[in-house]
Amino acid sequence: MSAARGALLTMQVVESLPTLREHVAGFRNEGARVAFVPTMGNLHAGHLALVEHARSLAERVVVSIYVNPTQFGANEDFGNYPRTLERDCQQLAKAGADLVYTPNDVTMYPLGIENATHVSVPGVSNRLEGKHRPGHFDGVATVVARLFLMVAPDVAVFGRKDYQQVAVIEHMVRDLSLPVAVQSAPTVREADGLAMSSRNQYLSESDRVTAPLLYREISRIATALEGGARDYKALRGEAVATLQDAGFLCDYVAIRNPDTLKKSKKDDTRWVVLAAALLGRARLIDNVSAG
Ligand code: PAJ
Repeated sequence: MSAARGALLTMQVVESLPTLREHVAGFRNEGARVAFVPTMGNLHAGHLALVEHARSLAERVVVSIYVNPTQFGANEDFGNYPRTLERDCQQLAKAGADLVYTPNDVTMYPLGIENATHVSVPGVSNRLEGKHRPGHFDGVATVVARLFLMVAPDVAVFGRKDYQQVAVIEHMVRDLSLPVAVQSAPTVREADGLAMSSRNQYLSESDRVTAPLLYREISRIATALEGGARDYKALRGEAVATLQDAGFLCDYVAIRNPDTLKKSKKDDTRWVVLAAALLGRARLIDNVSAG
């Protein structure tokens, strides 16, 4: 039997919460630590790198696949979000996941979305992505809190591609004293620098050629900051102009404090440069750290 086929046979895919809990209890009985990687599926190398990272942190790795309706805005792509469960499971088995949890809407929101208990993280949720996608981070915090309570992992792994999402989760975990360690892993990129994303498949062929400019522009700002540039407004303005000229519609290009995501001050020595922009039908986000 091939190694991949063997892995497929040992990896379990479970939809019900009691079955998930039984499996996790089994892991605990073995004395295993449990690492958790929440996803919305349509997996790519970025997600698989999180699984790899999770494997270095714990003996057992649980991955969830759930396209969470509460984090999508009314005019966003919830209905079209690519759902590729079979392929995802094959990739996860090869990557060494032990258990895949694929809850349905009734399991995730047993009293219905209208009656759902919400988790809302103040401050950090309202900046940047939160301004452009109102309610998005409430949806993320609400579903991640539920998943943490269901899976009860020792550690959970998130991608720094969604830098602000990590900040929101860290705030929630700290504030609610949730017994989960939050870890983040670096952004996985295509060869030309474009951050991998399920949404890249919305790019037309010609937009795909333009898309890596977003990363190039924020990297240029990061290099300038490290070289001593401090005119944040000018740095952002140049990047926005370059991106608009190339056909992007910029939501923001921002230079922020990496811990608070508040606007950087002149005497700061560490930064995160974040950007979000629409290119054709795809809304791309990316960030790079500096300092
Ligand atoms: P999703 O977009 O599927 O991403 C799942 C995880 O993969 C997130 O932690 C995300 O930051 C990470 N990820 C995505 N692209 C990446 C890349 N190129 N490199 C590294 N990591 C990457 O983020 C979500 O789902 C949802 O909001 C979720 C947390 C599952 C809650 O519904």
